[in-house]
Amino acid sequence: MNKKGVLVTGGAGYIGSHTVVELIGAGYEVVIVDNFSNSDASSLDGIAKITGTKPIFVEADCCDKEALREVFEHYDFSSVIHFAAYKAVGESVAEPAKYYRNNLLSFLNVVELMKEYHRPNIVFSSSATVYGDAEVLPVTELTPRKPATSPYGNTKQMAEDILRDIVSANNELRGIALRYFNPIGAHPSALIGELPRGVPNNLVPYITQTAAGVRECLSIFGDDYPTPDGSCLRDYIDIVDLARAHVVAINRMVEGKSEECYEVFNIGTGSPVSVFELVQGFERANNLKLNYKVAARRAGDVTAVWADTTRANEILGWCAERNLEDTLRTAWAWECNVRKEK
Ligand code: UD1
Repeated sequence: MNKKGVLVTGGAGYIGSHTVVELIGAGYEVVIVDNFSNSDASSLDGIAKITGTKPIFVEADCCDKEALREVFEHYDFSSVIHFAAYKAVGESVAEPAKYYRNNLLSFLNVVELMKEYHRPNIVFSSSATVYGDAEVLPVTELTPRKPATSPYGNTKQMAEDILRDIVSANNELRGIALRYFNPIGAHPSALIGELPRGVPNNLVPYITQTAAGVRECLSIFGDDYPTPDGSCLRDYIDIVDLARAHVVAINRMVEGKSEECYEVFNIGTGSPVSVFELVQGFERANNLKLNYKVAARRAGDVTAVWADTTRANEILGWCAERNLEDTLRTAWAWECNVRKEK
């Protein structure tokens, strides 16, 4: 079995494409499976330009088990990173069945084929959403998960549980769930980044599109939260730092260092940042003024969540390195690049 081979589902997407770049940089041989449901081929060109390597690409939907089986038949890899999933919280509330079907079926197909083809290692993309509105901050991996507030969040909790049960029942398999906090920014080359379709749901793409004049005005959802400046607190993690966490997780499994068959790690910076602070940081980093106003709270938002990253620091030897303003410069450089191409 090719220990250096990694299958990356959703590898053309935002987190996937950055992770592929870091994997290639670390000497891994990558096979990408993506159906372009929320991405396009431009990210594959970006990966090739940055790394000088064109990864193998198969256009397929992970819900199509036979199409995925072909990939397991044809390519040799010991590890899988499973990103392929829908991620819009609001849409998941409106169309729950679509989310449960897509996110759970694709995940089950991947783990069943791993078992069948004896591919031992999987990293699963989980989310800080599993903590909900936590009572004690920062959250550690032992902080009890709260009932999910959206079908999207529920698919993450359910997939974590399914993974834990499957690897416990099969001593050939090992799994690591990475709970991401809020990924932001882009590769420093500005050749890959986040490409939201339609109106962005997330804060940083909305900010960059507002700065670019695509959106008129950013709404800050709520200034009456019980926080120092009244806006919500989050843990914004640079996308390249986040991508590197996947490489160290894969290294750990490939080198046989994981002590447990199932491990969970928070991947964040450990520092809370308010929406106002993020906006001001963006203005300072890029020397521009943003048009914004305070609006009503957004349904479903938690007041505050940030990570205790001790486990990732000590066990994975990983920590976030890039500072917030540098990250916000990459976000703006990427937005400018996207606009130039259009
Ligand atoms: C959400 C999900 C998270 C998911 C992430 C990426 C929940 C609770 N959160 O995180 O699981 O991984 O998206 O898709 O399910 N904001 C504004 N104006 C805007 C947009 C956002 O003020 O136009 C504020 C929000 O109120 C929030 C902060 O910015 O306080 C971050 O929002 P966002 O980027 O959407 O991420 P989360 O909601 O934290």
